[in-house]
Order: sequence, then C-alpha cells, then structure tokens
Amino acid sequence: MRVRILGSAAGGGLPQWNCGCSGCTAARAGGVFRSQDTVAISADGAAWYLLNASPDLRAQLLATAELAPRPGTRDTPLRGVVLSTSELDHVLGLLLLREARHLEVYATPTVVSALTDAFPLRPVLAAYADVRWSPVPPGVTFELAGGLVARMVSLGAKRPRYAVNADGEDWVSAVEVYDPGTGGVLVYATCVAAWTDRLDRLVSDADCVLLDGTFLDDDEMRRVTGIPSPGRAMGHLPVMESLRRTAGARATVVYSHVNNTNPLATMPPDAVRALVGSPNVQVAADGQDLIV
Ligand code: MLT
Ligand code: MN
Ligand code: ZN
Repeated sequence: MRVRILGSAAGGGLPQWNCGCSGCTAARAGGVFRSQDTVAISADGAAWYLLNASPDLRAQLLATAELAPRPGTRDTPLRGVVLSTSELDHVLGLLLLREARHLEVYATPTVVSALTDAFPLRPVLAAYADVRWSPVPPGVTFELAGGLVARMVSLGAKRPRYAVNADGEDWVSAVEVYDPGTGGVLVYATCVAAWTDRLDRLVSDADCVLLDGTFLDDDEMRRVTGIPSPGRAMGHLPVMESLRRTAGARATVVYSHVNNTNPLATMPPDAVRALVGSPNVQVAADGQDLIV
C-alpha cells in the first residue's frame, strides 16, 4: 500500500498562529512548516482514502499530484475519509471537501453521532455533497475501493471539548489497514492515551505504525508554554514512554501529530536519530511517502 503523510503536526500546526513558544519561534525564523495530521492511503494508486481530514486539507490536496482530478472532469481519485476521532483538527477538513460529488466517510458510531449532533457537520455537509456515512463499530472490518481492508480499534473515551456531555465509548480509535495484495499492515494511532495490551498486540502485528508523537515528555506543555497540562491528561502518551514500549517491535515506527511544543518537531534528523536510538523509528515529515 502507498502511504503519503499529508500533514504531520498536532492541532494548531507548526508554527501555531498565536504561539510564541520556542518551537514556534524557531519555526517562524527558519521557515519551517508542518501542517496538521492527515494521511492518504491507496492499495492500487487509483483509489485513495484519507485518514482524517485536517483544516489544512485544501493545501495538502493541492500539494499531492496523485489526488488531482482527471483532466476534463471533476472526478478525483479521493474516494473517502476514515476518521479516527471527532476532534476539530481531524474533521474540519471535511467541510473543505464540500465540492465533492461523492464521498464515503467511515467512523465509529460514537464519532458519527458527535458529528451529527454536538457538532452538526454531517447535516451541513449533506446540503453540499453526496456523502455516505458508514458507522463502523470497533473490530468490524470494512473494505475500501482499490483493495484495502480496514478496522477501528478502540483506544479510549476522551471526548472533544465540544462534546463533553455526549454519550458513547469509542471516541478515539486506532485505524488498522491491511493490504491483501502485499500483506502489509499499517496502524495509524496518533491519539494514544495509554499503552494497553490491545495496542501492544496491534503494534506487534504491524509493519508500519504512525504513532502518537504529540509530546516528547509529559511535562512539556508546562515547560514550553506555561500551560499546566500534562501530556497524558490531554490524551497523549509521551514519546519517551512509547519508545520504550515499541523497542522490540519489528514495525517501522513513525511519530506523527507532533505538537509545536515538541522538540522533535524542529530537530534535525541526526539529532532525532541520536535521541531515539533506533533506525526503525522516525519523525514524520509533510509529504513523506511510505510503502507498506
Ligand atoms: C488532541 O489531539 O488532543 C486534540 O486535537 C486537542 C484539541 O485540539 O483540542
Ligand atoms: Mn489533535
Ligand atoms: Zn508554539
């Protein structure tokens, strides 16, 4: 399967418009830029799906020749979107797809409900585009055009702030994507609150894991911005912890959804290699290609 990382930053991106932290300041000075987390996947190079839809989606699509429309048509290779959460940084891009003729959206029933009621993106989008919403409970496989087979794996119940009073359990998922053609397994898990046995099995069976790279360590937000929010309390296990957990895995681990406070966001590749200490571990870059 082909995997293209369209954006590698957590919500806010790098630099974040209102942030003068050391990372955002260095990014501004150095012209460094990361757009917000979204991934494009395809088995056959003809039908493509997005994992999440960031608010940066228009620029991300324009930067991706594979997703351009066929000349003389408004048909594009983009068939749909798989949502791992209903967080704004993962769903606002759906509104930017309103020119689409047909679109498929897959998400857990909990996420579909949130986008119908608490944040009624679904009914709004319905006025513009023919969107087929498929609520897929965790563990149930679903087929994507072009040959990929996917399933949600529940990672937790951390609700978006706009939905604190909403019901449901499956707010945050990993997405496991299998390519029967190559046997390759991709796991996308950029919102990992805690390392569980289930996640451990998922990572053991994967060839490539796009893993939660939001924070390098738990105290980072307070240290860098003065905001007293431990990373774990924000639903993001720090990289220093997950690095230990993945040490024996055969998979390539690519940290993404990197927050602007995370030193990894602006660290040169040789410094990243020295820090993570394994050739199997990388920090995602916008535009990066992976073959799984
Ligand atoms: C998250 O990744 O935890 C969310 O996107 C947080 C947010 O943007 O409110
Ligand atoms: Mn986020
Ligand atoms: Zn910042």
